[in-house]
Amino acid sequence: MYDLISLKGKKALVTGAASGIGRATAFRLAEAGADLQLIDINLEGLDTVVEEVSSHSVEAEKFRVDLSSKKEIDNFWNTIKGDEPDILVNNAGIYVFREFLKIEEEFLDRIMRVNLYSMFWMCQHMIRSRLEKGGVIVNVSSIESMLPFAKNLVHYDISKIGVIALTRALAKEYSKYGFRINVIIPGGIETESVKKLKEKTLLTLDIDVIKSGVEFKSRLPIGRFGHPDEVARVILFLASDLSSYVTGAAIVVDGGFTST
Ligand code: NAI
Repeated sequence: MYDLISLKGKKALVTGAASGIGRATAFRLAEAGADLQLIDINLEGLDTVVEEVSSHSVEAEKFRVDLSSKKEIDNFWNTIKGDEPDILVNNAGIYVFREFLKIEEEFLDRIMRVNLYSMFWMCQHMIRSRLEKGGVIVNVSSIESMLPFAKNLVHYDISKIGVIALTRALAKEYSKYGFRINVIIPGGIETESVKKLKEKTLLTLDIDVIKSGVEFKSRLPIGRFGHPDEVARVILFLASDLSSYVTGAAIVVDGGFTST
């Protein structure tokens, strides 16, 4: 069992690692022995994570990359040439609420670049650089893409359904080259960003959003919101040999929400 879950000698790249699910994932992968390459736009947040994982005696490097820019993504892969990761976790994403009728081209473009195109380019670099060796990719989508629940997230939903399509199409084409490519579909995870959103909603007394939050919780079969680590543990499973026959899978981690 230890050998199956161990990531000793492996290098794992996690995007959006300064906060929430990405941060929890960095801890778990380090605990399993992986050296880390951590990407975020928030370098201070990454400093804290690097300090916190140091107890696991793994190497942890941090990189400030704005994933909305293909140029920055390309530069990053040039910087790490020869030191590409065995495991790539495409987690960074933004959920900004905006009414469909008020969305302009620039806004939609940014959402798509951060949430979907970044994962497309990251996967392309990963697969291109490891075509001989293979590797593991875990992408992070959202239950909103399959079961739109919150208001004013149409732009987010289309970006996240693209993540599922990207994953399944790549798994079909590249699993024979030694890649395992899967997607996690989380929902109801209480990360720092979600907590801040809740506080803001309460302060501004946004009745529609408060109502949808209450309805969400009352529909949750498991009866509570999830912890970021409860997603990180599933990502660890997908990153390790415990899941050696799993590829092209879309794994829902949502306390049962989409089953109701
Ligand atoms: P978070 O907001 O706590 O963390 C996201 C991280 O991504 C932040 O550290 C942020 O600085 C970084 N980031 C944002 N834009 C970036 C950019 N352009 N370049 C580089 N880094 C950037 O988010 P959370 O809640 O941990 O979510 C992580 C992923 O899980 C996201 O893709 C989100 O859509 C998805 N998700 C989260 C759910 C939840 O309930 N929290 C539910 C469904 C999906």
